[in-house]
Amino acid sequence: MASAEPARTAHPTAPLPGPDGTVRSRVSRRVGSIAPSATLAVDAKAKALKAAGRPVIGFGAGEPDFPTPEHIVEAAVAACREPRFHRYTPAAGLPELREAIAAATQRNSGLACTAADVLVTNGGKQAVYEAMAALLDPGDEVLLPTPYWTTYPETIRLAGGVPVEVVTEESTGYQASIEQFAAHLTPRTKILLFCSPCNPTGAVYPPDQVAEIGRWALEQGLWVVTDEIYEHLVYGDAQHVSMPVVVPELAERCVVVNGVAKTFAMTGWRVGWMIAPRDVVSAATNLHSHSTSNVANVSQAAALAALTGGLDDVVTMRAAFDRRRQLMVSMLREIPGLACPEPQGAFYAYPCVRTLLGRELRGRRPTTSAELATLILDEVEVAVVPGEAFGTDGYLRLSYALGDDDLVEGITRIRRLLSELG
Ligand SMILES: Cc1ncc(COP(=O)(O)O)c(C=O)c1O
Repeated sequence: MASAEPARTAHPTAPLPGPDGTVRSRVSRRVGSIAPSATLAVDAKAKALKAAGRPVIGFGAGEPDFPTPEHIVEAAVAACREPRFHRYTPAAGLPELREAIAAATQRNSGLACTAADVLVTNGGKQAVYEAMAALLDPGDEVLLPTPYWTTYPETIRLAGGVPVEVVTEESTGYQASIEQFAAHLTPRTKILLFCSPCNPTGAVYPPDQVAEIGRWALEQGLWVVTDEIYEHLVYGDAQHVSMPVVVPELAERCVVVNGVAKTFAMTGWRVGWMIAPRDVVSAATNLHSHSTSNVANVSQAAALAALTGGLDDVVTMRAAFDRRRQLMVSMLREIPGLACPEPQGAFYAYPCVRTLLGRELRGRRPTTSAELATLILDEVEVAVVPGEAFGTDGYLRLSYALGDDDLVEGITRIRRLLSELG
């Protein structure tokens, strides 16, 4: 029997009139206005070129290049064989995992918390979204240090909030000051969003500055959402401290976001969490229960093994990242006109390329970092993420979570190309 062709086109655009004939947008304005993730887009383009046989070098990925440690994988394999892991878990997560998250948090950052303060989420990303959705009413403003992780403004808007950019520069190590935050404070400000170590800049705020910002937020009656997903990836003298630990009174108005992705090379397993006051955990769990039920049970078993298995693998990975960080920064600094502050955490460098823009290069004249990134990919097959993805034109983000040989080859290609600048 011949089946009817579905009445679909690849890119439908015609508006659909409603029952009363009025024309309505096909996709809701709320979701239709979300920008795609620029970092995932660059990564996808680089991976597609690679799959097509091109010798592309990707500095775009925000993920460790190491495999997940063996004992974690083994725990997941064992869980796969046990029927109890084939079932739903409670929406907030496996009780033993919530216990382990609370214990690991106490051990690592010193934050006093219990399993009841924890909601297990599909990655730190979902914890950010659910925190925003649980806290923001329409029009509430969020102080957002910029450059920001590309997902923050979209999750704020999706939750009805308004991101208020607090722009930082390389001259201050990309760290926002109280004065800058204060200049953007309004009666609608509800949240200060804090990320240290920072994606994309690698900035790590010193402990006294974290405390100062926390005390200021408390005085202003703000909430703080602090993203600690890179807590273990700090280098040299830099030290990560958790804001509600250095300002304990803030704990009642603070949501801590974290996850296993970056620490244990587990980006694909999708396990993160929030630690928050009970009313927020409860509201976010309700939202979670209706949107995704629970995080994949087997992934939760893997995360449990990660959190109870010690930090030896993290120490090894951090040493490799540190070596590559120093290599990348020294090579980038050899490129005339490119200014690269030393990142102190995470695994990204965020050089300023403003002085390179507007100049002739292989018959083109890139005037934005997005155009420069496209030109670099087209001409020398190296993928970098333009600063526009993080709210600041004139910068590039390069991840150093890739092999040493690729790192050297990739930066060498960029340097050779940029040496042709007119
Ligand atoms: C600052 C920051 N927070 C949170 C995340 C979310 O990580 P995941 O959802 O993979 O746990 C990322 C990932 O890139 C990140 O860079």
